[in-house]
Amino acid sequence: MTREKITISVIKADIGGWPGHSRVHPQLVETAEEVLSKAKEDGTLIDFYVAQAGDDLQLIMTHDMGVDSEEVHGLAWRAFEKATEVAKRLGLYGAGQDLLKDAFSGNIRGMGPGIAEMEIKPRKSEPVVTFHMDKTEPGAFNLPIFRMFADPFNTAGLVIDPAMHMGFRFEVWDIMEHKRVIMSTPEETYDLLALIGAKSRYVIKRVYPKKGHKIDENEPVAVVSTEKLYQIAGEYIGKDDPVAIVRAQSGLPALGEVLEPFAFPHLVSGWMRGSHNGPLMPVPMRQANPTRFDGPPRVVALGWQISPEGELVGPVDLFDDPAFDWARQKALEVTDYMRRHGPFEPHRLPLEDMEYTTLPGVLGKLKDRFEKIE
Ligand code: F6R
Ligand code: MG
Ligand code: MG
Repeated sequence: MTREKITISVIKADIGGWPGHSRVHPQLVETAEEVLSKAKEDGTLIDFYVAQAGDDLQLIMTHDMGVDSEEVHGLAWRAFEKATEVAKRLGLYGAGQDLLKDAFSGNIRGMGPGIAEMEIKPRKSEPVVTFHMDKTEPGAFNLPIFRMFADPFNTAGLVIDPAMHMGFRFEVWDIMEHKRVIMSTPEETYDLLALIGAKSRYVIKRVYPKKGHKIDENEPVAVVSTEKLYQIAGEYIGKDDPVAIVRAQSGLPALGEVLEPFAFPHLVSGWMRGSHNGPLMPVPMRQANPTRFDGPPRVVALGWQISPEGELVGPVDLFDDPAFDWARQKALEVTDYMRRHGPFEPHRLPLEDMEYTTLPGVLGKLKDRFEKIE
């Protein structure tokens, strides 16, 4: 059966690390697989895959219930709860960490897990990449998503393919003020960069085609999870470790144009204690296990073809390729360079970003020691 509409949902959470904050224990993956298998049998899901990136358990699901479906979000919550039981039994580190609310009440947003979802009318062939990051924040996607959809030095198609020459529209969220703005490229490229260069505040949430594109202008072609754990919890819990879904080819960036930005391991914030700048290292899933200084931050890219019935044909572990060896090598050089700054900025994040870490607990104690300078 060819489906008219399919929803792709990627929902992830850190519900326990093995050991420390490094990776997901295989039993958590198995437990989530059991829960989602039942949901596939009973027809809630069309298909699913359980992945891992660092200490984050990743549920990749297709279904026909649209975004923000109570059934699908409830299912993800139950999978995380079940896996948390296992994490507790094994004594994994931070068991249940990202499940910040006690009971599910209709939508998983604002409860701790990160969510990227899009409902699409599948094209004749639908290539999709899901990205999974660990030890960093949603703004880490700003640079690569901008480059995929708006930088002609990255995406040759913006210049030479008439189907994408008109550019794209970016939905940008101000995550402090909870506002959003839509910006159009190439016309507003400089304005867009003025915002998203400040990646701890302005984050790309979605990308849309423009009118006249083969894909309907209201259908996203990329979406990023923007949940901020500290805003939900009111205190430092861990970094948000965002995910994204990006569609490719045929009037959209080609697969290679979607991956190209990650050949440069740009600096992102997160890493040790969510408090440091470091390079984002593209790795295959088997290497997405932060070790050195709880890092460096990692990104995994899983490639899929969505079948006309909505099955997830994949994954293909896209960074499992020597073409990204140089990026990994560069990331290691930058890791060394940054580490040598120890507790100094700009390795350590600037004070305004440290507000949401454990540092204020230390600075608070020194407050009374200060005397006025005449
Ligand atoms: C980063 C992260 C880790 C922890 C660090 C300290 O996102 O989760 O770097 O912040 O391992 O963890 P605690 O305070 O739990 O010992
Ligand atoms: Mg963790
Ligand atoms: Mg994590």
